[in-house]
Amino acid sequence: MTKNAKLSLDGKEFEIPTIVGSEQEKALDIARLRADTGYITMDPGYVNTGSTMSAITYLDGEKGILRYRGIPIEQLAEKSTFVETSYLLIYGNLPNKTQLQNFSNLLTNHSMIHEDMKNFFDGYPATAHPMAILSSMVCSLSAYYPESLKVNESFEMQIPRLLSKLRTIAAFSYKKSIGHPIMYPQNHLSYCANFLQMMFSVPAEPYEVDEDMVRALNILLILHADHEQNCSTSTVRLVGSSLANLFASISAGICALWGPLHGGANQAVIEMLEEIHTTGTKCSDFIEKVKDKDSSTRLMGFGHRVYKSYDPRAKILKEMTDVILSKRGISDPLLDLAMEMEETALSDPYFVERNLYPNVDFYSGILYKAMGIPVNMFTVMFAIGRLPGWIAHWKEMVDDPQSKIGRPRQIYTGENIRDYIPLDDRV
Ligand code: ACO
Repeated sequence: MTKNAKLSLDGKEFEIPTIVGSEQEKALDIARLRADTGYITMDPGYVNTGSTMSAITYLDGEKGILRYRGIPIEQLAEKSTFVETSYLLIYGNLPNKTQLQNFSNLLTNHSMIHEDMKNFFDGYPATAHPMAILSSMVCSLSAYYPESLKVNESFEMQIPRLLSKLRTIAAFSYKKSIGHPIMYPQNHLSYCANFLQMMFSVPAEPYEVDEDMVRALNILLILHADHEQNCSTSTVRLVGSSLANLFASISAGICALWGPLHGGANQAVIEMLEEIHTTGTKCSDFIEKVKDKDSSTRLMGFGHRVYKSYDPRAKILKEMTDVILSKRGISDPLLDLAMEMEETALSDPYFVERNLYPNVDFYSGILYKAMGIPVNMFTVMFAIGRLPGWIAHWKEMVDDPQSKIGRPRQIYTGENIRDYIPLDDRV
């Protein structure tokens, strides 16, 4: 049974209803707060603010739990594929055989992009960051599918279209950056194998799919597929709340993901490890620097807004990284360095007291590197993985008749009213 909280303010008592979720998470329902009391709440970084009710992902940062539609991430990483997990996130349940086949067929049939869009790639300088290309190209898809602008009428068809094309755009942007001819998708290949083929094959020789790489990619994408109301997902919801089309909303999410405090962290981790390695800095010295607030240096890949214990995704990736490196016979000094860094940090009171543990990005970069994915493509890989989560949240919002346009308030701290002074009279 839900109970009300009591608020005593300006000599009056107010009742604040409470909400309890299916995992007993509790919230104060302040929807009527301003209307009843004249007050708003102030919560920088939205640390205590719930923006929506959602049935997609359950996350308990204290206990290190992550479940998509109720299914633990560990089970999905072990048994599912990225395509199946995407279906689960977007449509709410695991697909039966026919549903999975139909969904797979849709992804296969929509993998090509309009030939005119290939000209866009030529317009970018070779040095362009692939995230810049990815976000612009995704937004541009709305120009090629004008029916997407009527959000409520047509979005179901845009879902497989976008899931399939994002992978093609990502691979094309990589090929462009290294001056290789673009490789088209091949319908006989699975989602992940097709991506690897578009990234790494060349017209001059046959390409053999490496099943270990396909499995590793499936796991990486599954682990990144959703993480409830993070910065990029909240951005997708906020942009979509104005009924902007799916492509525009996802393009905004890609931009939000780009920053080094979010999806850009996997690139930042490798750059940090490379710098430590090439300068011969000792792990312990680097940790001391990180602890010094004046240095404004952070241990990238450590800490998380919601995980205050070991990120369950980092645990799976650490094991997967070991497997792939040993199977491929790669010995990477950066992995040794990462392990040493983790051990040093986790035995240091600074990290222990602040509950700072490795997050998903601490190992994903090393794994991507072992798979031959270049560093500036890491955040693009994150975007491909996160896409079904973004779509699921966007769809959940659009399907909900109670949805409102997102519009936070503020407390104004500027000047009080004052007169305009003509330019000649100003000192
Ligand atoms: N290295 C050193 N100190 C850290 C780190 C870190 N990586 N992360 C947090 N801290 C310290 C802060 O300095 C602060 O210390 P203080 O209490 O003495 O001031 C304390 O821990 C709390 O940090 P906040 O910044 O308040 O924590 P918040 O929840 O706002 O930030 C964040 C989370 C942004 C992820 C942060 O931990 C960070 O910057 N990590 C490095 C970047 C990173 O790996 N990002 C990827 C996140 S995962 C993802 O997006 C998929």
